[in-house]
This record gives sequence, C-alpha cells and structure tokens, in this order.
Amino acid sequence: MDIKKLRDEALKELLGAKNLEELEKLEIKYLGRKGALTEVLKQLKELSSEIRVQVGAAANQLKHELASTIERRKKEIKAVLQDSKEWVDISAPGHKLAKGHLNPRTLILRRVEEIFQSLGFSVIDSTEMDTDYYNFQALNFPKDHPARDMQDTFYINEEVLMRTQTSPSQVRFMEKHNPPLRVIVPGKVFRRDASDATHESQFYQVEGLMVDKNISVANFKAVIAEFFKRLFGKEVKMRLRPSYFPFTEPSFEPDISCTFCDGKGCKICKNTGWLEMAGAGMVHPFVFKSAGYSPYEWQGFAFGFGLDRLVMMKYKINDMRLLNFGDLRFLKQF
Ligand code: DAH
Repeated sequence: MDIKKLRDEALKELLGAKNLEELEKLEIKYLGRKGALTEVLKQLKELSSEIRVQVGAAANQLKHELASTIERRKKEIKAVLQDSKEWVDISAPGHKLAKGHLNPRTLILRRVEEIFQSLGFSVIDSTEMDTDYYNFQALNFPKDHPARDMQDTFYINEEVLMRTQTSPSQVRFMEKHNPPLRVIVPGKVFRRDASDATHESQFYQVEGLMVDKNISVANFKAVIAEFFKRLFGKEVKMRLRPSYFPFTEPSFEPDISCTFCDGKGCKICKNTGWLEMAGAGMVHPFVFKSAGYSPYEWQGFAFGFGLDRLVMMKYKINDMRLLNFGDLRFLKQF
C-alpha cells in the first residue's frame, strides 16, 4: 500500500469536506475499524521486519496527522455554522430609521428665506454682539432717546451690547455694499424681558431692507403681501397701521386678517380680526446718511418681524417657550 498516495487522497478529501456528516464518514473511511489506514496497519505483520519498521512509523505518523486534521476541520466547520447564524440578507427591505425633527422655527425660517430669495432678496448674517452706535445711534436713537426704553438692553460695557433688534444690520450692510440692494437678515436678538408665554430674553427677528431708486410704500406693500400670501398659503387681507420707529419715516405696522378666524374675531386676535405682524417703514434719511448713502438719490423700505411670533401663528402654538425647551413630545409633532 502506498502511504503517500493514501495521505494525499485522505487530506484532499478531508479539506474538501463541507459539513460534519461528511467529515464523520471520512473519519470512518480512513481511521475506522475497517478503515484504509487500519488495513495498512493490519498488513504490517506480513512485511519483512526492516520494511515493517519504516512503513509502521510512516503509517502511525499519518494516523496522527489525519486525526488532527479531522479535529481542525471540525472546529472550522463549527465556526462557519456559528457565523452563519448572523447571516445578513442584503435583499431584505431595510428597517426605517427614526429620524430627528427640525424645530418649527427652523422650518419656518427656511420657508421665509425661500420666499424672499424667490423675490430677489439675499439672505445675510450679522453680528449678535454689537455696539451702542450700530444698535441705536446710527439708527437715529440718540443717547437718552425715549424709544430706547422699549428695548431694555443687555450691556456688555458702556459701548458694547447684545443687539436688541436686527436693524443694526441695515447700516452695517449698507456701509459695505452699494445700492441697489435687497436683503433679509434673520437672527437672534436679546432683551431684558421676563420669560412668559409671549416673551423670552432671546428671540428671533427677520430684518428686511430694499434700497433702489423710486422705491415707495407701494413696493413695500406688494412685497410683504406676496410674502404673507405664500407663507400662509392663502390670500390674506393686509392693512398698514401708522406707527413710530426712529429709523423709518413714515413708520407703520402691517397687520394681516387673523388667519385663525379669517377676520371674524377670536381669542388669538383679541376679537379685533387682525394680527400684528411686523414693524416697517421707509428708511429714514438719517439712516442713509449713517451708511454714507445720499437720501436724495436713494429710497428704500425696511421691515422687521418676530420670527417666533410667525411660527406661533403658523402652527397655532400658544407658548413661545416651547420653541426653546427641546422637549421631544413637542418637537416630534413637526
Ligand atoms: N427693529 C424694530 C423692533 O425690534 C422692528 C422694525 C421696525 C424693524 C421698523 C424695521 C423697521 O426694519 O423698519 O421693534
């Protein structure tokens, strides 16, 4: 019997065995009581003593080799079986991942930006910490002006403050850019207000500014009416109520017919049928001078509205503080 041939044949078969049953059959075939190797060992006695020693040693070595190969293959096959329990069916439909939710303020801000961009306005950013000069003086609020009292201010020091309104961005932007221009400036503003359902010491405004030649209140009305119509998804009535801001002349506040009761009168509009939406006006010549523009050459309108208020109107939210708490029970609704 050719031991080398037996070895080649046995190893080839053992390494090719695909499961434990095949392996067991091979174990019997080679090492069993009537197995091929056992036969070789039985025939040893018929050999001459010299050859018997050699063949015997080789046969015994092969017996060990085959036994250890069988053990190793068993372990390997078991490991593959183990792994296959974690088999992934890549064709199975995926689990839907739970997605986070955007704060409703972010949703409305995106919509506001989209609408104004489609009307030719650029969205720009401005600084949250600013100077008394930009927040007040350049906007025609001299020191000791009574209108400063409407905006109780967080001062960092005598000159530096947290902006109480986004309006300082008007002069900052005009100083760096030439007219004509159309921009909106969304951002955070700060006031020393006690927190309640309609006030927070940090809230968001969106400032708007359009400067060109021959701009009139009619241009403002057209732009702002289009904005409200698109935001609320329906035609809304609008009126301009006379008002006062130091940096606009004339000044007015656009009101829209209450979107909750369509102007009939309800709790939200305090039975007036109207919702106050913003402050606005024609840019005051003083502001143009602050920015280095000639008020004889350029006109413009400006407006500023409270973003949080707009969010509350749009989604019928009755407490502004909900926008800041990060409460998932609230946020999951959007
Ligand atoms: N800055 C004003 C405020 O916070 C709102 C405002 C009014 C902005 C009139 C304007 C404007 O641009 O023209 O109360």
